[in-house]
Amino acid sequence: MKISPSILSADFANLERDIQLVEAGGADYIHVDVMDGRFVPNLTFGPNIVAAIRPITKLPLDCHLMVENPENYIEAFAKAGADIITVHVESTPHIHRAIQLIKANGVKAGVVINPGTSVDAIIPVLSEVQMVLVMTVNPGFGGQSFIKETVKKITDLNELKKANDYQYEIEVDGGIVPETAELCKGAGADVFVAGSYIYDADHPNERLAALKDAIR
Ligand code: DX5
Ligand code: ZN
Repeated sequence: MKISPSILSADFANLERDIQLVEAGGADYIHVDVMDGRFVPNLTFGPNIVAAIRPITKLPLDCHLMVENPENYIEAFAKAGADIITVHVESTPHIHRAIQLIKANGVKAGVVINPGTSVDAIIPVLSEVQMVLVMTVNPGFGGQSFIKETVKKITDLNELKKANDYQYEIEVDGGIVPETAELCKGAGADVFVAGSYIYDADHPNERLAALKDAIR
């Protein structure tokens, strides 16, 4: 089980401190939410931020692209030091090509589905990816409530993985707190993104530890 704290809820004026804090607290990945103001109604980080944080942590940078035409940005994020790049199936008519492009740049590739998208939409690429990200809120903002109906998709992806010997990790993102993490773990999730639960706290690493406890 892995925890990927989302720096969307970190203090941007103290990004180095907030990343090194969770690294010391036992985080497994750093989740970087990239938003373009088009695919989702919010703006966040570009490749320059990834390049800036790359030297300050040893943790893999888990870059979640919520952008239209992700193909146009994959090379830049790879060069900046992304270790994992996940792209939304809803964001491009050429999801297979986008995944191949990520791998051609030497980065682990993942596919993401929104709460309103069914697992069927990504079946043709499941053999190609190292990560499947199941959005458990609608993407765009931190601090939203977990959507329970998404849990069935985790179960289905876990069954497909076992039946076909696929190699992906199942990641969940949005509204993750100990109770919802436990639900997702029961369904087969491997990687848990948490933003506001960890960072909107006086002691983020107590929250990180509580999450680890819940999914142990
Ligand atoms: C939402 C982002 C999430 C976000 C999660 O669009 O993809 O990674 O940071 O935030 P919380 O954990 O607060 O729901
Ligand atoms: Zn995310």
